[in-house]
Amino acid sequence: MVSLQLDRVEARYGRKVIYADVSTPPLPGGSLTALVGPNAAGKSTLFRRIAGQLAGAGEVRLSGTDKASLRYMPQDTGMNAALSVYESVILSLKQGRGGWRLTEDELHAVDEILQLLKIEALAGKQLAELSGGQRQLVSIGQTLVSQPRVILLDEPTSALDLYRQYEVLEVLRAYVERTGAVAILALHDLNQVMRVCTTTIAVANGRIVATGPTLEVLRPALIRELYGIEARVETCSRGCPMMIVDGAP
Ligand SMILES: Nc1ncnc2c1ncn2[C@@H]1O[C@H](COP(=O)(O)OP(=O)(O)OP(=O)(O)O)[C@@H](O)[C@H]1O
Ligand SMILES: [Mg+2]
Repeated sequence: MVSLQLDRVEARYGRKVIYADVSTPPLPGGSLTALVGPNAAGKSTLFRRIAGQLAGAGEVRLSGTDKASLRYMPQDTGMNAALSVYESVILSLKQGRGGWRLTEDELHAVDEILQLLKIEALAGKQLAELSGGQRQLVSIGQTLVSQPRVILLDEPTSALDLYRQYEVLEVLRAYVERTGAVAILALHDLNQVMRVCTTTIAVANGRIVATGPTLEVLRPALIRELYGIEARVETCSRGCPMMIVDGAP
């Protein structure tokens, strides 16, 4: 069983400390975890710290896997390389693996991930020719193609239309259920969070203010504290929790 735990983790940019000391319980593989909080709360910073791109004291503990099997999709994925979609996904697959020869299995893995995300028609296109949403889908493909055991996705649905948002979250949910991977998604849409994420971590001002089952974390008092917004969670006619925003107090 794969799990990830933060133990008294600090994160800083040079001397600017964003997180002084944050801890979490072990986040279990096999289900999606949401990372929520207002703009500038520190979501991307926490991802960068977990991914090893930022310095700081404390420990990011992985069990059942190691750092080599972690993939991180940043919020802004620069895509200015003169590559086709297919080549870019191959490149991501080959990252950290020796040699450039492609096996049948590797080619199959690339085809499979493009099909899974329904972007196989883009395979021959240049990255520079893609729309914003298409670029985001390719980034997700690049992140998943090596079958990582720990996945950090920073706002993976921010550029997608309603159908693609749904599809991507279902692909991710199915992926973690099938592989037992740990996946943390930064998301701003709390209705999406309630639909697909069983666990939620809420951050604000360099602190983790709550971690736990999503519906226990996303209570009106916490929403008010995080965003300064009055909101209710009600059950829709099909029995699913929905967040309704009433306004700013
Ligand atoms: N490279 C950097 N150098 C210094 N400070 C930074 C750097 N990147 C981010 N910060 C600061 O760290 C804090 C947290 O930023 P972060 O990008 O982690 O927020 P976020 O929760 O991801 O916000 P958003 O929802 O807008 O993406 C902010 O105050 C930001 O200004
Ligand atoms: Mg961010």
